[in-house]
Amino acid sequence: MISTASALAHPNIAFIKYWGNKDQDLRIPANSSLSMNLKELETRTRVSFDPSLAGDQLILNGIPEEGAALQRVSKMLNRIRNIVEFNTFASVESENNFPTGAGIASSASAFAALSCAASSAAGLSLSERELSRLARTGSGSASRSIPEGYVEWQAGTDHDSSYAYSIAGADHWDLVDLIALISKEHKETGSSLGHTMADKSPIQGARVKDANRRLEICRKALLERDFTVFADIVEQDCNLMHAVMMTSDPPLYYWLPGTLEVMRAVQIWRRQGLPVCYTIDAGPNVHLICPAKEADKVKRELGSFPGVKSILECTPGGPTHLLEPDFPGV
Ligand code: DP6
Repeated sequence: MISTASALAHPNIAFIKYWGNKDQDLRIPANSSLSMNLKELETRTRVSFDPSLAGDQLILNGIPEEGAALQRVSKMLNRIRNIVEFNTFASVESENNFPTGAGIASSASAFAALSCAASSAAGLSLSERELSRLARTGSGSASRSIPEGYVEWQAGTDHDSSYAYSIAGADHWDLVDLIALISKEHKETGSSLGHTMADKSPIQGARVKDANRRLEICRKALLERDFTVFADIVEQDCNLMHAVMMTSDPPLYYWLPGTLEVMRAVQIWRRQGLPVCYTIDAGPNVHLICPAKEADKVKRELGSFPGVKSILECTPGGPTHLLEPDFPGV
């Protein structure tokens, strides 16, 4: 019998970043991190365990995938098949409403939606914590896309202790993430490979050692809605991660000239009194974070940059959830 389930997940933007693993295979991170789910960006995934299949199948945005992408999905399916002790293959159909591989953490929503849909299709009924652990094994940042709103991923030391939980709901603070798209090209070095290189930087140790201090400042500022403190720590954390990337061996440069132009402008605007800060993941696009009432002003300022191809506007998003009974369009 074919057993099907579908799920929806949002990607997230980290304010305190995850970079480097203590355990590469289980994705136990070097440090705890903190993020916000992005409501307007969605991944929808349907998983069907089908006894007639001779292997797992993956269709991503309408295109059949093989090789590394399919292997990564099969690894997650194997983990679930081991739990329920069956060996039926599955077909996985997934759609993003945003560009894949452009530094908008498509792996986070991909593995959050996949772990939710696949575990349900396999007959499991996992708690949020169990789902966050499972999603983490597919993509570290996916653990943060499981709970709602503002989320902390406690690094932990093993599979059981490494999971994410919500520290505030989506309606706690009306922050906006304006994603300035500098390039939609697929990045050269994906974050999975990047994580394995983090320890090659002589400053990763210092970044990790100081991570709890930054996390505590950021969490407090977020809970107190103190944008001034929040902005400084978010930028410092981002700069530290990129300093590690740039000093790895070989060095990783994710920025393009347009990235730096926007970063510098944001600092000037903030000095002039506009509450906005930047953060950047493993790609060239800049996430400008500001209170909702400032978003139009920030967008107007950004509009004058020739390097900015377009702007995506995101607000705090909800948790990963099942779509009942199934979802149309895939
Ligand atoms: C720079 O979660 O994409 O976005 O576990 O290998 O899938 P994998 O890596 P991933 O790493 C995210 C790195 C980051 C920072 C962050 O989101 O915390």
